[in-house]
Amino acid sequence: MMDHPELKNWSEAVEAELCAYFKERDANSHPLEEAMAYSVNAGGKRIRPLMVLMSIQAVGADAASFIDMAIAPELLHTYSLIHDDLPSMDNDDLRRGQPTNHIVYGEAMAILAGDGLHTESFEVLAKAGPAEVTALQRLELIKEFCVAIGRNGMVAGQAMDLQAETHPINLDQLHILHARKTGALIRFCARMGAILGNANDEQLKHITAFAEKLGLLFQVVDDLLDRKATAEQLGKTPGKDAAQGKATFPNLIGMNQTETLADELLNQCLEILEHSNLASHHLANLATFTRNRVF
Ligand code: IPE
Ligand code: IPE
Ligand code: MG
Ligand code: MG
Ligand code: MG
Repeated sequence: MMDHPELKNWSEAVEAELCAYFKERDANSHPLEEAMAYSVNAGGKRIRPLMVLMSIQAVGADAASFIDMAIAPELLHTYSLIHDDLPSMDNDDLRRGQPTNHIVYGEAMAILAGDGLHTESFEVLAKAGPAEVTALQRLELIKEFCVAIGRNGMVAGQAMDLQAETHPINLDQLHILHARKTGALIRFCARMGAILGNANDEQLKHITAFAEKLGLLFQVVDDLLDRKATAEQLGKTPGKDAAQGKATFPNLIGMNQTETLADELLNQCLEILEHSNLASHHLANLATFTRNRVF
């Protein structure tokens, strides 16, 4: 991503927005606020806001006026990471290159920081963005957001992930697990951009198909990196999946076949864009970054 100057600019704009978001609230600083800000401002690739913004661009609208709204899925994502790291879940002590939230603030405050970010993401969807966002668009976004992150989306994926530690699953079930745990939110981000950019039906269809492939690619590469990257690169502990008996692609089909699958998914992403009526240059860069990332 950093090889693509324009994506880098957008990601810096997102970073600035997230930083300002919590600065404004520093005045009445409380451990809860501090814990929420800690994990959000620890960094991260900001793929989800970028997906929103690049989808807006891909349908020919101006992404710049939507930056304050595009952080909503990043707040939600950060909540999911805080909870994912809890002792009762993946029990991680390193995230985004820093000690995990519960290591710094204790388990109870980490749970609440996650809860706070979860709620905050809905507030942002409900109120941020330019005046031309209609109430109907907001309602549609909030409805899709709920479906993506709830009991048939991300939370269901997390539950399947934990369950699969003790009840092994097959390849078809793993596709469903990944689509829910990681794919659903990424798919939402792409559709959020398309809806805000007033995409036509054809554009929405292509963006959705692209994002479904990209979401799977994203988690497949996450599985690969857990095996082959270092803690310094990742900013999180490698080797956890095997240690915890997680259902992953490398675990089920081996590293070589998983690398091949990742290459195929990238090609499918690019093919969908090529055959679409989208201005898709940045989405293509995002897909290439997702395949080649080392963190
Ligand atoms: C990690 O997400 C958890 C998954 C859903 C795979 P990211 O790899 O996007 O983490 P950050 O936001 O860059 O830290
Ligand atoms: C986390 O998946 C997915 C969500 C937080 C929804 P992982 O457990 O694979 O993420 P990492 O590897 O800890 O970042
Ligand atoms: Mg997990
Ligand atoms: Mg984890
Ligand atoms: Mg992982």
